[in-house]
Amino acid sequence: MLKNKVAVITGASRGIGKEIALEMARAGANVAILYNGNTEKAEEARAEAENLGITARIYKCNVASADDCAQVSTQIISDFGTADILVNNAGITRDALMFQMKEDEFDSVIATNLKGAFNMTKNFARHFIRKRTGRIINITSVSGMMGNPGQANYSASKAGLIGLTKTAAKELASRGITCNAIAPGFIETDMTSSMPEGTLDTAKKAIPLGRLGKPADIAALAVFLASDLASYITGEVIKVDGGLYI
Ligand SMILES: NC(=O)c1ccc[n+]([C@@H]2O[C@H](COP(=O)([O-])OP(=O)(O)OC[C@H]3O[C@@H](n4cnc5c(N)ncnc54)[C@H](O)[C@@H]3O)[C@@H](O)[C@H]2O)c1
Repeated sequence: MLKNKVAVITGASRGIGKEIALEMARAGANVAILYNGNTEKAEEARAEAENLGITARIYKCNVASADDCAQVSTQIISDFGTADILVNNAGITRDALMFQMKEDEFDSVIATNLKGAFNMTKNFARHFIRKRTGRIINITSVSGMMGNPGQANYSASKAGLIGLTKTAAKELASRGITCNAIAPGFIETDMTSSMPEGTLDTAKKAIPLGRLGKPADIAALAVFLASDLASYITGEVIKVDGGLYI
């Protein structure tokens, strides 16, 4: 479905981002695996992707830094000769009830989850506009749609990302570029494994399908949205949450 396309995925050394990179590689895409700090993990992801018979490269990039994003996007386009798909996946949580939340906990989550997507989109949109084609996929969260106690920073960042998605869709549609968001519910990754057991049990009870999702559940939709099959879909927010937020 993505043969010879070049896909750029942020925060792709583990979890959902890694699975998206591998699923896109299985679909025939060459992949740029962006990571924040763990070179060893990124290298592992690169090796797994290359075993699928495509070209994979790793790039260290803190998405909260506009300079990093500008530099790395130029490098990727130079290395691969082009780029076709951008997945803004990098994200963090710094949970606390609002009245106890520190300024830094609020700012760092907004800087990574929301400004990070803006930084990357700005750079790749220029390239996509020149090509008059491109796909942007933002990984938001149902927390940004329904709110979640203890996640004022995270919910606000993810709701902001939905606004960014819809604006990018409107600004870029006439240039043949689509922009959509995927809103996962609870997915089994390092992000959820650090949650208290009781919280996860309560979450499971609230999920009609009765289980947490897997990174593969998100990756399948990301491949579809990046493929020609989805060329008439833009500005959408698609939940993948086992029915949590119906
Ligand atoms: N796991 C879930 O239940 C769930 C639910 C809804 C949304 N999401 C979203 O899915 C995305 C992936 O999360 P995950 O569950 O795989 O978590 P994860 O913690 O395993 O992965 C997050 C990745 O983002 C990277 N990252 C963090 N800060 C960064 C920065 N400043 N610059 C670049 N990379 C950075 C991390 O290094 C990591 O590789 C996130 O945006 C998250 O908010 C996850």
